[in-house]
Amino acid sequence: MSSKCGVVVRRARNEDLRRIVEIEGRSFRYPYSILVLTTLLNLYPEYFLVCEYCGDVVGYVVAVVDRDSSGHIVSIAVDPNYRGLGIGKLLMNAVESRLRDDGIIKFKLEVAVSNYVAINMYKSLGYEVVKVLKNYYPDGEDAYLMVKNTSANGLRPEKPYRTSYNTLT
Ligand SMILES: CC(C)(COP(=O)(O)OP(=O)(O)OC[C@H]1O[C@@H](n2cnc3c(N)ncnc32)[C@H](O)[C@@H]1OP(=O)(O)O)[C@@H](O)C(=O)NCCC(=O)NCCS
Repeated sequence: MSSKCGVVVRRARNEDLRRIVEIEGRSFRYPYSILVLTTLLNLYPEYFLVCEYCGDVVGYVVAVVDRDSSGHIVSIAVDPNYRGLGIGKLLMNAVESRLRDDGIIKFKLEVAVSNYVAINMYKSLGYEVVKVLKNYYPDGEDAYLMVKNTSANGLRPEKPYRTSYNTLT
């Protein structure tokens, strides 16, 4: 890896979608279609972020704002070759930061009960399980509804996301 290579988190663009769909397909049993991802990008461009490493998109996150004014993390995935390097947390911190800029202080998401890696990540970021959603997935697996409320629990806002990550440079 070239020492010139760095990590950038930026808003997703239409030309990133091919790569996002590829990562999505390698990450989920029930991946979102390109139509769904394109719609999310059109509707929520400020909350659809990618992590780029040396010019290649290696992960993405997308959030929407629900009617109760909470930031809903709809999807996050990192290319399997780049997992365990801090990119997932980088993306989560980045999208939370964007949402906070717009006054959103409560975040929520659903995660399969068997997805211990993601559950670990969310817990380490301050999310708590508040509910079990029965038969949430097409194969009948349950999901946890996890919530992070930055005002109620007194957490101070996370620092803005890092712009570089040592293990990747
Ligand atoms: C979940 C996912 C996005 C995490 O991305 P990542 O870049 O690998 O995560 P990070 O390196 O930032 O690690 C974040 C946290 O995840 C947890 N984690 C990461 N790898 C782990 C592993 N192999 N085992 C257990 N926990 C792990 C840790 O809590 C870690 O925090 P820590 O390093 O401070 O202990 C990634 O595994 C992924 O794309 N999975 C498939 C898609 C998916 O399940 N998305 C979530 C849907 S709800």
